[in-house]
Amino acid sequence: MKEYVRFKIYLPVIRIWNLVVDKYYGIDTELVIELPSLGLDLKIGNRQESTPTRHLKKILSFLSINSEDIFIDMGSGAGRVMIAAGRFPFKKIIGVDVSEKLNKICKINIQKMKHRLECKKFENITSNASDYQIPDKATFIYFFNPFGMEVMKDVFHSISKSVSVNPRKVKIIWYNPKYDRELEQSFPIKKIKEMKWDNFGLFPSRCLFYEMSIS
Ligand SMILES: C[S@@+](CC[C@H](N)C(=O)[O-])C[C@H]1O[C@@H](n2cnc3c(N)ncnc32)[C@H](O)[C@@H]1O
Repeated sequence: MKEYVRFKIYLPVIRIWNLVVDKYYGIDTELVIELPSLGLDLKIGNRQESTPTRHLKKILSFLSINSEDIFIDMGSGAGRVMIAAGRFPFKKIIGVDVSEKLNKICKINIQKMKHRLECKKFENITSNASDYQIPDKATFIYFFNPFGMEVMKDVFHSISKSVSVNPRKVKIIWYNPKYDRELEQSFPIKKIKEMKWDNFGLFPSRCLFYEMSIS
């Protein structure tokens, strides 16, 4: 019964609401696209699916942000997170995605929203996250379950390297995490917060907030 309500009523209603919001702004973020239909191997990572708006607002408003902060969305997809983060005074927002096509959609979405956003500097990078070097000044790294554990580990190694080159605290935000236990054991990360939602008792969602610094 719960599954029926979740998939036949709750999620379609939320989807319609998100489509209405997209339509209002003239953007296209409510997209579900499998990697093979973008010409990419299924093994590279997970499909495009945007973080639910209702959770994203709460996640971003928990962060203490200043005008020197740099935010990266690893697996940025259609750009919903980059746009939502753009309402805050970040110095720069970077999106990294393996799909050139998604980056094109993302850039168009950002362009349409830019006049409404506080952050004015956006960059889209087409790369496998495994090959991307985390910039030494990045302070927030966001993930919505974009890829498997091996790629996650590569990215965490890159964050760790950047923290040793430029000692600072990097906040890691991980929406609907998998492999969090494994990564907690392998990297010097400290959990600072966990948000949970029960979505009207239908299914659980959560978001973990970590800090990585030199131990
Ligand atoms: C679940 S979506 C998240 C989109 C966006 N961050 C959001 O929350 O709205 C995951 C994204 O990761 C990208 N992706 C999957 N594997 C990847 C990889 N190995 N390197 C970089 N991006 C990847 C996909 O193309 C997809 O756009």
